[in-house]
Amino acid sequence: MFSRQSLQRACILALGLVATSAAAPCDIFASGGTPCVAAHSTTRALFSAFNGALYQVKRGSDGATTNIAPLSAGGVANAAAQDSFCSGTTCLITTIFDQSGRGNHLTQAPAGGFNGPESNGADNLASATGAPVTLNGQKAYGVFISPGTGYRNNAVSGIATGDAAEGMYAVLDGTHFNGACCFDYGNAETNSRDTGNGHMEAIYFGTSTTWGTGSGSGPWLMADLENGLFSGNTTGNNPSDPTITNRFFTAIVKGQPNHWALRGANAASGSLSTFYSGVRPTASGYNPMKKEGAIILGIGGDNSNGAQGTFYEGVMTSGFPSDATENSVQANIVAAKYATTSLVSGPAISVGSSVSLRATTACCTTRFLAHSGTAVATQVVTSSSNSTLKQQASWTVVSGLANGGCISFQSKDTPGSFLRHNNFVLLLNANDGSKQFKEDATFCPQAGLNGQGNSIRSFNYPTRYFRHFDNNLDIASNGGVHTFDAAASFNDDVSWVVTSSFA
Ligand SMILES: *[C@@H]1O[C@H](CO)[C@@H](O)[C@H](O)[C@H]1NC(C)=O
Ligand SMILES: *[C@@H]1O[C@H](CO)[C@@H](O)[C@H](O)[C@H]1NC(C)=O
Repeated sequence: MFSRQSLQRACILALGLVATSAAAPCDIFASGGTPCVAAHSTTRALFSAFNGALYQVKRGSDGATTNIAPLSAGGVANAAAQDSFCSGTTCLITTIFDQSGRGNHLTQAPAGGFNGPESNGADNLASATGAPVTLNGQKAYGVFISPGTGYRNNAVSGIATGDAAEGMYAVLDGTHFNGACCFDYGNAETNSRDTGNGHMEAIYFGTSTTWGTGSGSGPWLMADLENGLFSGNTTGNNPSDPTITNRFFTAIVKGQPNHWALRGANAASGSLSTFYSGVRPTASGYNPMKKEGAIILGIGGDNSNGAQGTFYEGVMTSGFPSDATENSVQANIVAAKYATTSLVSGPAISVGSSVSLRATTACCTTRFLAHSGTAVATQVVTSSSNSTLKQQASWTVVSGLANGGCISFQSKDTPGSFLRHNNFVLLLNANDGSKQFKEDATFCPQAGLNGQGNSIRSFNYPTRYFRHFDNNLDIASNGGVHTFDAAASFNDDVSWVVTSSFA
C-alpha cells in the first residue's frame, strides 16, 4: 500500500526527473527501494528536484549567517554567493542541511567522551573555504576537517537502529587523512559516548593501525563499528582492502543482519570494487548490531576528534542498497566531474622568489616577520639594518611541501629550515621529512583580509592564518579559543605586504 504522502512524493520526484532529466544519487537510491534518510553535501544537490539550502555559513565580521543553495534544482552549490557574503572576512560552515526532508542536519558536535577544543567542550567548525573544488567546471566548497573539528546530530529521524539494514556512501579527498581516531561519516551513539561494541556503523578513512588494516601503508576505507575499525570480519589485516591513492574517493559501508560490506572507487572515473562482503566481526557484540542512529562527520562516536579528512557529499539510506544501485550512484558521481581548483588567491607569491613580509596593523607597519633561532616574531627591519637581521627577515618561496598548489617559506640563512606551526605557534624548524612537518609548513596565500597584500592561510588548519600578536607569530582563527585568536584587529593582524626580500 502506498500512503497518499508517498504517492505525492513519488509524483514530485517524477516531476523533478522530467524537469532536470538526470536522476541524482537519492533518486537512484529511492528507485532501488533503499531511500536516503539523510543526504548531506556542501557541493551539490543529491535529489534532482532539490533546490533548498545545502549549508549555512557564518562570517567573522559581524556573526551574520547565510544559507547556500544550488544554482538550480539538482545543481551545484552557489559558491559565488558564499564568496560574496564572506568577502573581506572569514567564514565557518555552521550547518550542513539534510536534503532528505527529515531534518537530519549536521551542526557543531557537542562535547562527548572526548572533549573538543571549544570552551564548552564542543568541536571546532570547518572553514568554509578550506576545500575548494569544481563540479563540471563550477566552483564549490567541501568540508575540510582539521583535528578538533566535528559535526553531529544526536536527535535524528529515520536512521537505522539496532540490527536494521542501512547503507551509506561519502565522497572524500583520498589525499587528506591521518592516523588518529577517527575521520568518520555515519551512524553513531546518540549520547556522544562509547556505549559498546556494535553501537556504530560508519565509514572510516585514514591510516589508523590500532584495529584493522588493509594492504600497503594506507590510507584505507574501514568501518567504525565502535571499539574497532574493521576491514573485514576481524580487527586483523584484509589484503583485499587497498591503499587508496585517488584524489577523489567514493567510500561505501553497508550492513544488514550478520552481513556487511565495504566498497570503494575513484570518484572521478571507473566503477566500484568490493573490498569486503561477509559476516559481521566474530568478536562479541557485533552480531546482532546495536546501532543507535545518530549521525557523525569527522569524529568518532565518543567525539574522538584527532583525525583529519575532507567530505564533499554523503548519504545514509534505509535498507541495504544493492550493488547495482550503488553502481548507478557511482556513475552519477563520476558524471558530476569532481576536479581540483586553485587553493590560492590575491597577489601572486611566486615559487622561487625571495620575500619579506611586512605587518599592516597601524601599530606595526615597520615590522617584518623574522626568526631568531627557532623563534619567529616581528622585528623592525630597514635598509640600514645589519645583514644578520636582514637575512633573518628573508624567505625563499618554494612549492608547498604538502601540496604544490600552495607554498612553503624556506629560511634564507638556514637552508632546509621552514616556517611551520606547532601547537598553533609559528616556528622555524628543519624539515624532518615527515607528513606532519610538510603539512604544518604548507600555507595557501589569499587576498589580504584588510584589503592589503596577502593573508597566509594554514594548509592543514584553514581557519588559521599567520598573525602577529604582541609581536609574536601564531596561526590564529578569527574569534577562536586562544588569546591570540582575539577578534579585535584580526583582519589587520593577519594581512601582510609581501615585498622583495632584504637579503
Ligand atoms: C573471515 O574472513 C576470512 C578472510 O576473508 C575468511 O577466510 C573466513 O572464512 C571468514 N570467517 C567467517 C566466519 O566468515
Ligand atoms: C643586528 O641588529 C640587531 C637589531 O638591531 C641586533 O640585535 C643584533 O645584535 C645585530 N647583530 C649584529 C651581528 O650586529
